Amino acid sequence: VHRRTVLQAMAGTGFLLTLSPGFLLTGCDGGVRATELGTLGLDSEEYDVELNLYATPDSVSILPGTPSEVWRYRAELLKGPESTVSENPDSYLGPTIRLRRGQTVKIHIHNELPEDTTVHWHGLHVPSDVDGQPRLPIRPGEMMTVGFEVLDRAGLFWYHSHAHGEQGGRVGFQSYAGLAGLLIVEDDEELGLRLPAGSDELLLVLQDRTFEGANELVYLDGGMGAMMDRMRGFLGDRMLVNGTPPTTRNVATRPYRLRVLNGSNARIYKLAWSDERPITVIGADGGLLQQPENKPYVVLAPAQRLDLWVDLSDSRPGSTLELVSDSYEAGMMSGGMMGGMGMMGNATLPAGSRFTLMTLEVTDSTNTTEPLPAELARARKKIPVTDATPVRQFELSHAMMRGFAINGRRFAGTTVADSEKVRLGDTEIWEFRNNTPMPHPMHVHGLQFNVIGRETRGNGRGWSGLTQGLVDSGWHDTVLVMPGEAVQLAMTFERFDGLYIYHCHNMEHEDNGMMRYFQVQS
Ligand code: C2O
Ligand code: CU
Repeated sequence: VHRRTVLQAMAGTGFLLTLSPGFLLTGCDGGVRATELGTLGLDSEEYDVELNLYATPDSVSILPGTPSEVWRYRAELLKGPESTVSENPDSYLGPTIRLRRGQTVKIHIHNELPEDTTVHWHGLHVPSDVDGQPRLPIRPGEMMTVGFEVLDRAGLFWYHSHAHGEQGGRVGFQSYAGLAGLLIVEDDEELGLRLPAGSDELLLVLQDRTFEGANELVYLDGGMGAMMDRMRGFLGDRMLVNGTPPTTRNVATRPYRLRVLNGSNARIYKLAWSDERPITVIGADGGLLQQPENKPYVVLAPAQRLDLWVDLSDSRPGSTLELVSDSYEAGMMSGGMMGGMGMMGNATLPAGSRFTLMTLEVTDSTNTTEPLPAELARARKKIPVTDATPVRQFELSHAMMRGFAINGRRFAGTTVADSEKVRLGDTEIWEFRNNTPMPHPMHVHGLQFNVIGRETRGNGRGWSGLTQGLVDSGWHDTVLVMPGEAVQLAMTFERFDGLYIYHCHNMEHEDNGMMRYFQVQS
């Protein structure tokens, strides 16, 4: 079997650049071509936050032994509060960027990679040109400056590559190589709740990876394995949490806030506590829920975030509690079945298998219990929907030869069909209908939506054991659409016109055509 390592992979090349209004070239800055987008009409010194963000090759110790070659983000804070950037020095993950709602932010993105890249601010409501879309690539050796105002309410967001080469998408490859990081937005409403903070706020990025030989990261297998990986999405054969193998954390007998991102290419997690206590959910992609919700387990699909709360004040010192991904039935695409047949896929960590993500060990009995507020969010009411609200349908399909498609169309640069044009300010219901045997985490750029309904049409083709863990209340930018399911979302196209993207966030599906532009027309 021929395998490609991160370093051996060929760079995606020359993507046709479409200039859009607001694009301006600021000329050369020390020989580096520099582009400036969406800079709010402010002078440089008027920004609240300014930073350099480098996308760069590096080598990081992930497993014992030889360090692994990765691609990662590094940041340098030029202006703004010290807490804006916290590096993750022992991990390939990018620094955690912490912003306040209302801040104006200017970021200089430097591409030090051997291929085109972009940086997408996943979940943030930013102007089209600042959104890191593949139509505005940053070439190797070039710099792009983006400016935006933080409009979103408090929540856990993230940033990652959204590059697309001539041969197909590069999101799967570049994110897998390490180009991803957390972005936290804070606001007064959330800070006023006094949720666990500092060392009582645990950030978790869940990713699965495969290593070979001298700890080289391996992405797609050659031959049949790669074909399988492209169809099902890449599954690694071991878990990394925050870029390291799962660890034990010392905790005290008090409440903790766990903010979890699924940063994996394709794996779906079923989060549960090892002692089977309910999982308390306090927030989702777009910030806090109105009220906390208890669930037996929760499902976290690629790109989704969940905000969890756990009270350890009754725990005995010396006891441990594990956050696990519990087992579920993953249909014929699990990888286990295929791997077990000795044909393709990998058998080490099949989809739907059970494993530990983090162990909490109670080592300290300082109890500072702050009760969890019964009301978490007041400020943002649900999007109002009536019988007159227009419905737009999107059929998700997969055909052996043609691959993945949305309404029969595959990613085709910035082309937008008439059925993909919406009006600025309108509220619509988008319905995703899944006609494939695989689940698809569907993501819409530039907004947060409400999930207003799910219907199962036909059979789930083997996928089961996940339904009670779907978190549909609150605000989301990514929704898991199960096989045979139709999911309705309410969304409003606010504030910015221009091109945006919607796509499956299974990164191999996205890279292989399951992505389209839509246009917000003023
Ligand atoms: Cu997280 Cu279009 O991306
Ligand atoms: Cu998909």
